[in-house]
Amino acid sequence: MKNIEKFRQADYDIDPIYLKRWSPRSFANKDVDQPTLNSLFEAARWAPSAANIQPWQFIYAKSAEDRETFLSFIKDGNISWCKHAPVLIAVVSKCNWPKGNDLNPTHAFDTGTAWGYLALEAARKGLIAHAMGGFNREKAKQVLLLPENYQVHAIVAVGYQGYKESLNEKYHEREIPSNRKAIEEFIYEGKFKSTTQE
Ligand SMILES: Cc1cc2nc3c(=O)[nH]c(=O)nc-3n(C[C@H](O)[C@H](O)[C@H](O)COP(=O)(O)O)c2cc1C
Repeated sequence: MKNIEKFRQADYDIDPIYLKRWSPRSFANKDVDQPTLNSLFEAARWAPSAANIQPWQFIYAKSAEDRETFLSFIKDGNISWCKHAPVLIAVVSKCNWPKGNDLNPTHAFDTGTAWGYLALEAARKGLIAHAMGGFNREKAKQVLLLPENYQVHAIVAVGYQGYKESLNEKYHEREIPSNRKAIEEFIYEGKFKSTTQE
């Protein structure tokens, strides 16, 4: 998006990529080549993780057959737009430590960082990466042949942005970058302070 500053302005100095990344739903009819897709995974690769365990796993669907398989566990509201994305990625983590069965308490935290890196690299490359929590988690695990100790966190639709007119009309007015709370609403010095009367 050329005029992102019309919708998003940072209050403090940051790299413009954080504002540039957003989650459109309209996808152009254009494939993502494998080296470009690999760059997104490469960015995820360099995320930090507890003890450098790197618990993240990404399963992607590019072929018509694999994308159809992914659509079998994505919820209808999301299918209506993400069926046009040339790539769908399941963001997965291994929940336990590499040795033994103990839970790795930071598997989700670390995998969230990796997805964040992937999304920022996508924006840097002029792609869009739209995460979805609206899918059937149990079915996804089953269909993707994941063992019990793995968790599917999100499905991400990746591709190039298309025209909003290609979307169902109900999405037209939502096809703009969202804003954020001011940092004062979620930053505390020293201790948490409740802002409610509870
Ligand atoms: C874990 C996660 C789950 C999400 N689930 C959905 C979803 O099911 N459907 C959808 O249209 N957008 C989904 N989103 C996109 C968010 O609504 C979007 O990221 C948020 O409104 C902030 O907007 P932005 O990404 O454009 O900055 C999800 C995002 C995340 C990170």
